[in-house]
Amino acid sequence: MHTRQYDLILWGASGFTGRLVAEYLTSASLSDHTSASLSNPLNWAVAGRNREKLQEMLNELGHPQIPIIIADGFNKNSLLAMAAQAKVVCTTVGPYTQYGSLLVEACVSSRTHYCDLSGEAGWMRQMIDRYHQAAKDAKIKIVHSCGFDSIPSDMGVYFLQKEIHKQYGVYATHIKTS
Ligand SMILES: NC(=O)c1ccc[n+]([C@@H]2O[C@H](COP(=O)([O-])OP(=O)(O)OC[C@H]3O[C@@H](n4cnc5c(N)ncnc54)[C@H](OP(=O)(O)O)[C@@H]3O)[C@@H](O)[C@H]2O)c1
Repeated sequence: MHTRQYDLILWGASGFTGRLVAEYLTSASLSDHTSASLSNPLNWAVAGRNREKLQEMLNELGHPQIPIIIADGFNKNSLLAMAAQAKVVCTTVGPYTQYGSLLVEACVSSRTHYCDLSGEAGWMRQMIDRYHQAAKDAKIKIVHSCGFDSIPSDMGVYFLQKEIHKQYGVYATHIKTS
């Protein structure tokens, strides 16, 4: 993984959410070579199925030079080629039930970390059942639901665990939200 061309590839950057992520990634604290907050600026690329749309989005953000990779959700080889270039692929191509599985497979087989912001619980269960052990063996992380409306649940669990530990000296092994 140390030899990968990019730290991160953002797949789906032409969509609504992808653009927001791209906007965040172009912020000075992550991409500015002179920034004191990172010893190395993030080396990243955008990806999607439509080069013109991606270029237009980068132009609008004022970062036309960011590299573009073409990968289609139905083209396994293009997904494998994309995953092999990155340490992490972040995907905002959804619905994940429709477009997500081949990318998870490509990331596991090319030993690339993966994250999404899926809220599709049934699909995530399928991915865990299918790929958890292989991901563990490959020493990579498949992270579903990292952001947006997953955050209140994560923060709720964090808060509860802190309170439980304060009161009982142990952490809960299971938390049910309703
Ligand atoms: N958990 C949460 O809180 C949360 C919040 C926001 C969004 N989401 C999820 O995030 C996903 C994206 O939402 P969105 O509103 O950003 O959708 P969107 O604006 O429709 O964007 C979808 C993106 O997927 C790309 N795409 C579609 N089919 C593709 C294919 N075959 N190959 C490659 N790329 C393809 C589109 O590319 P083109 O531009 O070329 O069409 C576009 O970049 C959805 O699944 C949504 O449910 C979750």
